[in-house]
Amino acid sequence: MMFSFQPIGHVHSPYKSAQEVPKGLGAKHDAEGILEILPQFELGLTDIEGFSHLIVLWLFDRLTEEDRQELIGTPPTDNRPHGVFATRSPRRPNPIGFTVVELLRRDGRSLHVRGVDMLDGTPLLDLKPYLSSIPQEKLRRGWLAEAEARASK
Ligand SMILES: C[S@@+](CC[C@H](N)C(=O)[O-])C[C@H]1O[C@@H](n2cnc3c(N)ncnc32)[C@H](O)[C@@H]1O
Repeated sequence: MMFSFQPIGHVHSPYKSAQEVPKGLGAKHDAEGILEILPQFELGLTDIEGFSHLIVLWLFDRLTEEDRQELIGTPPTDNRPHGVFATRSPRRPNPIGFTVVELLRRDGRSLHVRGVDMLDGTPLLDLKPYLSSIPQEKLRRGWLAEAEARASK
């Protein structure tokens, strides 16, 4: 089965190339950007202002077909390989990115946000309010917790 999606808008980001996006353990994602929604989807933004954080689903549009074949990779947060579905790597079969951003303000079709890690011009697929109901003590961080522990020694 194949699916097709249309962009609902684009990201205005300070990052023009992948090298500029902070990477590795402890990388901070506090860059501000704008999610610009296309006019035909503006009505869908009704009531979004009440949410402090948003889940942003977007397309890794600058990957090659070859990048999408990789099922094991070594992320910048570790020196050991992991399965793609246990990482946030852009190199994955379906090139869908997921970022939680803080909604700073809405200006018509433009959502001013903090926490972008996408490149400038990245197509947006969807927005949803971020509502986490998982208590901190129930969250397990897998290999990342081990990599952080090794790095802090
Ligand atoms: C580690 S991924 C994580 C992205 C997202 N937070 C996620 O979990 O799906 C972030 C990297 O994706 C790359 N990237 C950002 N926007 C991209 C785009 N439009 N196409 C391809 N790669 C992109 C950059 O190199 C950035 O460092």
